[in-house]
Amino acid sequence: MTDTSQATVSPTNPAGSRKVFIKTYGCQMNVYDSQRMGDALASDGYVATAAMEEADLVLINTCHIREKAAEKIYSELGRIRKMKSEGELAKDLRVAVAGCVAQAEGEEIIARAPVVDLVIGPQTYHRLPEALARVAKGERVIDTDYAVEDKFDHLPQAKPAQLKARGVTAFLTVQEGCDKFCTFCVVPYTRGAEVSRSFVQIIDEARQLAEAGVREVTLLGQNVNAWHGEDAAGRPVGLGGLLFALAEIPGLERLRYTTSHPRDMNDELIAAHRDLAELMPYLHLPVQSGSDKILKAMNRRHTAEDYLRLIDRIRAARPDIALSGDFIVGFPGESDADFEATMRLIEEVGYASAFSFKYSPRPGTPGAEMDGHVEEPVKVERLARLQELVTRQQRAFAESLLGRTLSVLVEKPGRHPGQIVGRSPYLQPVVMAKTAGAIGDVVTVEIAEAVANSLIGKGAMMFDPSTSHQPAGMVA
Ligand code: 5AD
Ligand code: SF4
Repeated sequence: MTDTSQATVSPTNPAGSRKVFIKTYGCQMNVYDSQRMGDALASDGYVATAAMEEADLVLINTCHIREKAAEKIYSELGRIRKMKSEGELAKDLRVAVAGCVAQAEGEEIIARAPVVDLVIGPQTYHRLPEALARVAKGERVIDTDYAVEDKFDHLPQAKPAQLKARGVTAFLTVQEGCDKFCTFCVVPYTRGAEVSRSFVQIIDEARQLAEAGVREVTLLGQNVNAWHGEDAAGRPVGLGGLLFALAEIPGLERLRYTTSHPRDMNDELIAAHRDLAELMPYLHLPVQSGSDKILKAMNRRHTAEDYLRLIDRIRAARPDIALSGDFIVGFPGESDADFEATMRLIEEVGYASAFSFKYSPRPGTPGAEMDGHVEEPVKVERLARLQELVTRQQRAFAESLLGRTLSVLVEKPGRHPGQIVGRSPYLQPVVMAKTAGAIGDVVTVEIAEAVANSLIGKGAMMFDPSTSHQPAGMVA
């Protein structure tokens, strides 16, 4: 999962309407949720603003996955309180906290942060307008129930023009919650039990996205490959079957999904990687550790060998697949030998990218109660070594693409005139000359250079980022 922290901005609307500033922390699902909450607020008369100073409502969508992420929220709320008291923000500004911190710490937020008017959990976003109406009457509201009704049946969908303004790629949540209970993870507590959205609902939403000009959809779920449902004919299907159906939608040229659990990579899904040109050859498949002892303590319910053999099967089906993973260093009981086993696994797999974290004990999870917590300096050192290895692998992967022709979905203008930026099948940003194609086109580009985290297409102007906006030269 990628960490995001961003303000959500939509097109501006008529003067005089109430304004909402939405800030999103955490994973892609929070980005998607913020958009859907923005849509719900739009039908309640709010327009989005990118400036907190002009907002009537500040909505913070929060992440609880690690301690740092949760603590950030309280410092943000402290800052808002100060700005409000110093007159930098609207006098009658309302502040709402949504997301996983809201779910996990409902009462505590109200107690610790007096500036907060509303705390709303991820399962009740459809009740946001109703909760705000209570706030307007002077109540401080906490709504963190697990609603019996399906929020997606009630959350309004954005209008085609709004969808269009969001660009040619989109997220689509297909599954939420998790029943796996890895011993380090708060998700089963904050997002609840695993629930799959219905096949029909997903296909409908994907169609609307495609009609609005979306060319690439990333299916989201905390445990996305556990998705299951019934197709239009009532036959049971898994994520693989869903992907086959989505690939039929005119206009949808690229499909991705994240985040997966190794235990749910079934044959149908591997076949989708083999047979579907639309399914991009990039897979985020976290393993967390390469030590069987630690995997067991984490309750991952597979061994390092199981994971490696699974990768063999996936690579046999789709030889050019680029792999990405998540790793935790310093889980309780992790010895030097356990850590070395993780390093060996990384060497053996060869990742195109990876996310790695120091273990952060989360209240209420079994890991937090375990013996053998690892000292911070040891975690720091292990993380640095692991990241160094992964960075080397990432660079080697990017360099292996030099001289190759890749298909790239053009997403947006580049930072400099004359450039456009898109994504490779392997999710890397690709900078190209503007003449390569228009936004929304899938173009073929020869890769001339690999810099930092991006690829440079042949013929793209190169700029020296350390100096001005002047071109530093031409590449190949
Ligand atoms: N400490 C550190 N990393 C964690 N993750 C989840 N919980 C924790 C924790 N308590 C990481 C895992 C997961 C990713 C989203 O965040 O690697 O795959
Ligand atoms: Fe957390 Fe494990 Fe579920 Fe992923 S599979 S959300 S890491 S409990």
